[in-house]
Amino acid sequence: MALKITVIGTGYLGATHAAAMAELGFEVLGLDVVPEKIEMLTRGEVPMYEPGLEDLLRKHVAGIEGSSGRLRFTMDFKEVAEFGDVHFVCVNTPQRHGEYACDMSYVDSAFGSLAPHLEPGALVVGKSTVPVGSAARLAALLPEGTELAWNPEFLREGFAVNDTLHPDRIVVGVGSERAEKLLRDVYATPLAEGTPLVVTDFPTAELVKTAANSFLATKISFINAMAEVCEAAGGDVAKLAEAIGYDDRIGHKFLRAGIGFGGGCLPKDIRAFMARAGELGADQALTFLREIDSVNMRRRGAMVEMAREALGGGAFLGKRVAVLGATFKPDSDDVRDSPALNVAGQIHLQGGQVTVYDPKGMANARRLFPTLGYADSALDAVRGADVVLHLTEWREFRELDPAELGAAVSERVILDGRNALDPALWRDAGWTYRAMGRPSA
Ligand code: UDX
Repeated sequence: MALKITVIGTGYLGATHAAAMAELGFEVLGLDVVPEKIEMLTRGEVPMYEPGLEDLLRKHVAGIEGSSGRLRFTMDFKEVAEFGDVHFVCVNTPQRHGEYACDMSYVDSAFGSLAPHLEPGALVVGKSTVPVGSAARLAALLPEGTELAWNPEFLREGFAVNDTLHPDRIVVGVGSERAEKLLRDVYATPLAEGTPLVVTDFPTAELVKTAANSFLATKISFINAMAEVCEAAGGDVAKLAEAIGYDDRIGHKFLRAGIGFGGGCLPKDIRAFMARAGELGADQALTFLREIDSVNMRRRGAMVEMAREALGGGAFLGKRVAVLGATFKPDSDDVRDSPALNVAGQIHLQGGQVTVYDPKGMANARRLFPTLGYADSALDAVRGADVVLHLTEWREFRELDPAELGAAVSERVILDGRNALDPALWRDAGWTYRAMGRPSA
């Protein structure tokens, strides 16, 4: 009999996982405790912007014309327990308020609500990013005859659907051959396509996720540290990254210097990792992550200083600053710990008149920073600007016409915080183009 799958938590991770499981042919029941989310998903609407996700959802949500009908949603844990053979826990693990440690309350509450209803034989699979040691603790909360596995997510925002259906790797931390077999059945399609499967114990599976994100953060901060040296020495970090990237032990990916990493994962994951290592008495092993974090935060300040310098070096008071980009990365509406909004906010707090435009992040940005100015297009944002800051590398911004924008601004000065625009294009149209870690002309 075909396996039935449930997905607990319908944020980025859960909504995508649920739709992907239906796409792989399973009957799926998704659960969330927020009624509005369930209502939206049931109508085939996604509560965030993620390319391809709404289409995939509409392809499978029961009740939508022409759908496979394999995907439904509920708020009832008992229904979930009775329905599913394999239960994926995909709830959020944010940073705790005022601390570095991870907030496990959503995971704990999901396990607490599900466990009493579980049927014998059920497999609960954790996908959330958690501090190492959590799986062993959570396994002890499950009733006799059920078991736990840990299967860390592999998903970048903006590529969530593709990453879920065609991941680079599948990692399963298991305590039994049966759990491994069940997960091999769940992932039969990607495994048949050649996706590598790594079978581990619980702590290793949990660590894979935090180690991978720490490595990615390290790569970004490494190149940003090189940008600082280039700025001091008159070098060009973009050329440097290109050159070292040809060494295939290093590679070109994640070597784009700029205002650094943000979002709901990398910053909080490296902090939670340091906090957990401290609890385990292994904090020395991760002291370098503190440096990774400070290089990263420093680049936001460096962007503010670059803007100040471009405006003549004094106060921002009375200066008009246009900000292109609000989300932490393109192809997402996510503004969590967004470097772009952080920079915009700093300049605003120092008296600058900041106008922000972002293709998809406006509603979230307005909620988070209601006191900033907002415009409905890039052209409107730059009208009368004394300086333009390019802070999230949307394709729309690469396709802007520098001549058209040039006619609208007060001063033709653009600062590229993402090293993603074509310097020649802007300079040819009469702009002063500057980018982080690169010489001025
Ligand atoms: C990350 C991990 O990549 C993913 O594997 C994990 O599952 C979740 O966390 P995500 O948060 O979606 O994914 O974003 P990612 O693509 O990693 O980018 C993170 C940040 O780094 C963004 O702010 C991006 O702008 C920045 N970045 C990325 C750089 O500054 N330079 C780069 O070269 C690459």
